[in-house]
Amino acid sequence: MTAFHITGGIPLSGTVRVAGSKNAALPMMAAALLAEGPVHLHHVPRLADVRTLTQMLRELGVCVCRSADGAVLLEVVDPMPVHARYDLVRRMRASFCVLGPLLARRGRAVVSLPGGCNIGDRPVDLHLKGLAALGAELRLRRGYVVARAKRLRGTTIDLSGPHGSTVTGTANVLSAAVLATGETTITGAAVEPEIVDLGNFLIAMGARIVGLGTRTIRITGVGRLEGVAYRVIPDRIEAATLLLATAVTGGSATVTGVVPGHLTAVVEVLRTAGSRIESGDDRITIAASTRPYAIDVAAEPYPGIPTDVQAQLTALACLARGRSVVRDRVFPDRFQHIAELNRLGGRIERRGAKAVVIGVRRFRGAVVTASDFRASAALVLAGLAAEGRTTVRRIRHLDRGYQRLDEKLGRLGARIARTRKGVRTVCGKTNNMVSGPFYPACHK
Ligand code: EPZ
Repeated sequence: MTAFHITGGIPLSGTVRVAGSKNAALPMMAAALLAEGPVHLHHVPRLADVRTLTQMLRELGVCVCRSADGAVLLEVVDPMPVHARYDLVRRMRASFCVLGPLLARRGRAVVSLPGGCNIGDRPVDLHLKGLAALGAELRLRRGYVVARAKRLRGTTIDLSGPHGSTVTGTANVLSAAVLATGETTITGAAVEPEIVDLGNFLIAMGARIVGLGTRTIRITGVGRLEGVAYRVIPDRIEAATLLLATAVTGGSATVTGVVPGHLTAVVEVLRTAGSRIESGDDRITIAASTRPYAIDVAAEPYPGIPTDVQAQLTALACLARGRSVVRDRVFPDRFQHIAELNRLGGRIERRGAKAVVIGVRRFRGAVVTASDFRASAALVLAGLAAEGRTTVRRIRHLDRGYQRLDEKLGRLGARIARTRKGVRTVCGKTNNMVSGPFYPACHK
């Protein structure tokens, strides 16, 4: 089992650069199924989730490899496979995003339903509603969506759900509509930067899309999409996590390679908590207060506070002066981190869809276990701020969504050792680093 061993109490300082966005890169990789020619995706983070989707795309007839300059190269070499296996979709929900492209390009798809996960109910009814509206015949059989469509036809689709829109649902329907006949209007669309980035990628391939970043996206179907080179936006969630790591340790640091406009809500909360923040073109500098002020926040769809930062904000609230309240209006059950944060000395009480937090002076080091990867980030942040040593187990959850977070925090002065089956790595310098190609070279 992989674990982090953290010596807490060190204020972070220095400069660190964020990686490309996981949640932008994954739907783009799936959308490469639409291209008639090679796709070069730059700035794709090196993550377990990327490797999982790579495995699935290879099984779907796509040659996927990493070039010497780090770009992910994708090219359809066999247009026949349409089966996306349960144990891959179960491992990484975003792989459900192959459904729309397979239907649009191959007219058939057999894709496993994603199943549940630790952050709450993860239905796909809006995905299926949108694809059915485009003319796909969809049946559920033994845990799989069995879909076929001679030719998708443009229509009007509303993707509003009980907790806002659906990000990957918008990605699935958008990726299908670009090759449909005629005009498609998606109302209640997700407006997240990752969806805007996917749409810009599709436009670069030759798609005709207007309204990205608004609730109403209009698509005019085209006959074919070309391969293209494209650079993925920075990961705003990783950037927020690094800013919060600095805030919980009372440090001062600069996060570079970001789009500050993607982090407005997070910066606002950090200022409310007492941090001084300055934003440049591609960087944000934070000077945290020694002890944060209490916060009263709710995670919401973009441009609100991201639900993927809610656990990390709860960790900050644990150290605040007074009583804080943290809600999650996207995933009302996304509170698995509470029990483990309380084992580190937090005083959090779950009351329905909110967490009530009474601030304490500091966390106390302990052994804790991660449940989902944003919750594991919250435990790492608490360990950084804790007295003494903290061990965070099951770091594989963290590696799904953060590219070597231990190394990045190490560059900011944190003392983190990663242990994996007896191999000890201190802040990224290991006695047994496995190097070599990210993926075996493509064999044309
Ligand atoms: C995306 O998940 C992200 N994942 C999640 O990030 C993120 O937390 C979430 O959007 C919300 O921002 C990727 O982009 C790969 P949703 P997604 O469909 O698309 C309900 C991370 O940490 N809903 O936008 O699966 C759903 O129950 C991950 O990187 C329906 O009701 O989330 C939820 O309450 C975790 N019916 C809300 O909508 C549907 O068909 C938002 O879900 C789909 C969703």
